[in-house]
Amino acid sequence: MCSTPARSFPRCSPLASDTTTRASSDGRSQLSLLRVRDLKKTYGSGKSLLPAVRGVSFDVAAGETLALVGESGCGKSSTARVVVGLTAPSDGTVELHGRDVRDAPRDRDLRRSIQMVFQHPDQSLDPRFTVGQTLAEPVRLLMDDDDVRGRVDRALRAVGLGPEYRDRRPRELSGGQQQRVAIARALICDPRLVVLDEPTASLDQSVRSRVIALLKELQQERQVGYLFISHDLVTVRRLAHRVAVMYLGRVVEIADTEQLFEAPQHPYTRALLAAAPVPDPRRRGSRARLAGETPSAANLPVGCSFQDRCPLVHDRCRVERPLLAATQPGHDVECFAVEALASQSGR
Ligand SMILES: Nc1ncnc2c1ncn2[C@@H]1O[C@H](COP(=O)(O)OP(=O)(O)O)[C@@H](O)[C@H]1O
Ligand code: SF4
Ligand SMILES: [Mg+2]
Repeated sequence: MCSTPARSFPRCSPLASDTTTRASSDGRSQLSLLRVRDLKKTYGSGKSLLPAVRGVSFDVAAGETLALVGESGCGKSSTARVVVGLTAPSDGTVELHGRDVRDAPRDRDLRRSIQMVFQHPDQSLDPRFTVGQTLAEPVRLLMDDDDVRGRVDRALRAVGLGPEYRDRRPRELSGGQQQRVAIARALICDPRLVVLDEPTASLDQSVRSRVIALLKELQQERQVGYLFISHDLVTVRRLAHRVAVMYLGRVVEIADTEQLFEAPQHPYTRALLAAAPVPDPRRRGSRARLAGETPSAANLPVGCSFQDRCPLVHDRCRVERPLLAATQPGHDVECFAVEALASQSGR
């Protein structure tokens, strides 16, 4: 009989610095698991350069979910792909427990420690393979066949699917079941960090809620960190501990989730929240609306890139670029107007 509890997997091979984390009262670690510094990703070459990510910095702790939000094209997926090592950064660093993710191709433990779940489960699931084969693939070289089988069954149980799913192929599953298998595949090696890029966007509302509840439960059991990308601010509010708002390749605001939703500071964040469904319709009117077109990342104005859509724009914004600065502990905003208000109220 297997002594491992149904919902836990033995570690493939722990990273050396595992012991450096400590839990806070809500189970989140205080120390950084993922450390991203001044990350840049530029596509193209010669005269046609597209700076998709323009110097982004953030941390994710063990057991924590950091959400990345922002309009389509603002660089969320590019950031995600660099973090998991699918593409190289143009500049900047990404470290997991102090180890550079660019070493992942040569470092098996590091590679297994970061996993990704995509918007469409078919990006993770090969239609030719059964669920059992798909789940066994990342672990089959690490253990004998019986152990692999036990591990696959535990992975299925962890995402609420029975062993009868082992022999099915993706086309025999619903979208929600496919995404559960994709999550099981990401978690089978017990990663430290999972990057989830719009994981519930292709699911209907009830399945979406179940997948979010599952992700929360798995995080509490395993202390895995999530970098969670989503358009759906209702889901973000349910799952994320902190939120980073991106605009044209920059993080323009980052704060604890409740702080960000209750007291957004950057004019873009305020407009983004105003455009989203809010549970209390009385509050909708008090927030700014988003006007104008997003400029092309390939042809950005001098100064603040939000200037042409900003209700608070002033002369300085057209000549100088604001930098992310703390307006209070744990709440950083990239805006001259907010910075000025914060320094007045601090006097
Ligand atoms: N492989 C690529 N080659 C060239 N441009 C790309 C590539 N991937 C993304 N882009 C461009 O980079 C910008 C950011 O894209 P992306 O990171 O996918 O944003 P998001 O996920 O926020 O929608 C967009 O302008 C997009 O067209
Ligand atoms: S820096 Fe200026 S243009 Fe940019 S968001 Fe702040 S007020 Fe608006
Ligand atoms: Mg994307």
